[in-house]
Amino acid sequence: MATTKKLKAAILGFGGMGHCHASQYGAQKDVKLVAVCDIDPSKFFMDNVELNFGDSGKTDVKALKCYTSYEELIAGEPDLDYIDICLPSDLHCEYACRAMNDGFNVLCEKPMALNTADCDKMIKTSKATGKLLMIAQCLRFSDSFNMIRKFYENGKYGKLLRFSLHRMGGFPKGWFREVDRSGGALMDLHIHDIDFVMYMLGKPDSLRARGVVVKSGGVDDLSVNLNYKDGPIVDAESSWARGGWQCGMAAVFENATVATDGGDVTIYQMDKPLKTLKPKNDNMYFNEIAYFAKCVKTNTLPDVASLESIRETIRVLLLETKSALAGGKCIKL
Ligand SMILES: NC(=O)c1ccc[n+]([C@@H]2O[C@H](COP(=O)([O-])OP(=O)(O)OC[C@H]3O[C@@H](n4cnc5c(N)ncnc54)[C@H](O)[C@@H]3O)[C@@H](O)[C@H]2O)c1
Repeated sequence: MATTKKLKAAILGFGGMGHCHASQYGAQKDVKLVAVCDIDPSKFFMDNVELNFGDSGKTDVKALKCYTSYEELIAGEPDLDYIDICLPSDLHCEYACRAMNDGFNVLCEKPMALNTADCDKMIKTSKATGKLLMIAQCLRFSDSFNMIRKFYENGKYGKLLRFSLHRMGGFPKGWFREVDRSGGALMDLHIHDIDFVMYMLGKPDSLRARGVVVKSGGVDDLSVNLNYKDGPIVDAESSWARGGWQCGMAAVFENATVATDGGDVTIYQMDKPLKTLKPKNDNMYFNEIAYFAKCVKTNTLPDVASLESIRETIRVLLLETKSALAGGKCIKL
């Protein structure tokens, strides 16, 4: 039964992404943030944090309850409507399953998990407990990326011929450098682009990745071709071995090239002035929280980011790693 009261949420893992999510709750219609939890209490004294893509945004931490363990959090806040997990990637499966088994819905940062067995466990636990689980694959909630998806679907600029994406930065610090914990550059950065490609085009027929191991022990810099029979040429590049942050995509249609770096969308047509479209609300982090809160309020499955589709993204990323480590072997899906 739908309720008019605001839902209550808590963030588990109050580092960079925890702060980023926290800063998005102030203006939410359906949910308020009541608590944060981190094993490192120094995080409660920061009101914003620097992430690879920029500033996390500000949060008034003094207005929130602070806990230093998951057990304390659920004992202190038994009536939470959901837990928003922003923990290191290797802890997503464990804590998402624990939270669902303890009776909470869960919004969980990407990557869903670092292997498909853990993804399956998360799907099974959501079904067995009846608790909603959504993975925060944020590009699915980006207005600018979705404008391009709409042009693909409505054929406004003709057939999509080529789709090219990139997402790169320098080597991150801390636990990210342990590939067993983070999944490396593929699960950190490249996952966003591959997840969006598959959200838009579905599963590729085959893939071929070329990549190099530079410093982390995992594939740090790679280029991949996803092959769609009768579909567009799709390539994506990702790296932890480049200096500054850069990301973007270009969709080359028959009659226009539509591009974005996550902000404005540009439309290039031969011999015409470049057109710029401004997305209505391009705060994808705000949008994903608003969407999940609505799903919890109405007890509706979060189909925009279905668990099965995101498990497929993880499977493809693992196959890309296999292909890159085998010197660019073509892998059929
Ligand atoms: N969607 C995006 O754009 C995006 C961007 C950056 C990171 N992320 C994802 O967010 C997640 C977190 O990344 P981050 O950059 O915030 O890392 P981070 O290290 O800054 O934050 C993780 C926090 O979790 C805390 N923590 C660790 N174990 C804990 C436990 N058992 N209980 C409570 N707290 C615990 C740590 O002390 C730390 O503060 C990762 O999975 C990453 O992939 C997503």
